[in-house]
Amino acid sequence: MQITHRPRRNRSSHSVRDLIAQTRLGVEDLIMPLFFCEGTQVKQPITSMPGQFRYSIDNLVDKCRELEDLGVKAVSLFPVIEEKKKTSRALEAINSEGLNPRGIAAVKEACPDLLVMADVALDPYSSDGHDGFVDAQTGEILNDETLEILAQMALVEAQAGADIIGPSDMMDGRVSVIRKTLDSHGSHNTLIMSYTAKYASSFYGPFREALDSAPKAGDKKTYQMDFRNSQEAIRELKLDEREGADIVMVKPGLSYLDIIQRFSENTELPIAAYNVSGEYAMVKAAAEKGWIDGQEVMLEMLTSFKRAGADIILSYFTEEFARLEL
Ligand code: PBG
Repeated sequence: MQITHRPRRNRSSHSVRDLIAQTRLGVEDLIMPLFFCEGTQVKQPITSMPGQFRYSIDNLVDKCRELEDLGVKAVSLFPVIEEKKKTSRALEAINSEGLNPRGIAAVKEACPDLLVMADVALDPYSSDGHDGFVDAQTGEILNDETLEILAQMALVEAQAGADIIGPSDMMDGRVSVIRKTLDSHGSHNTLIMSYTAKYASSFYGPFREALDSAPKAGDKKTYQMDFRNSQEAIRELKLDEREGADIVMVKPGLSYLDIIQRFSENTELPIAAYNVSGEYAMVKAAAEKGWIDGQEVMLEMLTSFKRAGADIILSYFTEEFARLEL
């Protein structure tokens, strides 16, 4: 046989494969999302996300210390707001003594070097379960009326010690208003990681169970993006760059690797991918049934985000991956 080109030579041993591997995944690339709630000594399992819990602040702090010891550099915190505190005006979102800023401050006090990212959107605080204000008559999600409370929410988070603000609400113009508000209050060093291309996705189901934050009426399709589109993602990217985002995110991750790749060709900013709750749940469910090898699928999936062009991955697998690396 005269075969000149043998691509298999480059795959012939573990050592050769490691030598030429183009994508490397490390624990320092990952951000661990964590859910926290009122109370003490609470560690409440989230049914649709095996291995994930709602922690009271004391346990949240312990978990953060543990993650830091595993080499994790950043966490993203999501508060579970009590039903009685939810209103249509979502005022709890800007309560500087509320659960959210208390959790952020407690983590920063215990782990000053661990980066804390805080979400900006009204859904956990809104009795309507929407990211913006809802017009009571028409059901319309009100863009401009929502911007001020989002900016104030970001400021409360920054003042509590958040290093990174993550606007996940998809209102037009939010990054610019948040940047201006942070800057005019001395928080010019607080980063903004914008949820730039956030699609209206059914992959968020388990997250909404975790926070009990699903919309009471309608869906999020007038503000989150249509999954049939990709040009629109580039438009959002250009706007977020102009408005002052430091890091741009694509969400969800797995079904949107093409969008991550297009981002990497269209921006000089760091790119984050959000490996969302439904993606985690699917892997866990199939692994529990013995239908896939959960650990191997996790590695393949996390690596694919980096191969597509992501620099950062938000993933519920962060802790599991960090433990493997040790
Ligand atoms: C809040 C928010 C959501 C997620 C992150 N921030 C839910 C939503 O927009 O409905 C989803 C994260 C996940 O599914 O893991 N706006």
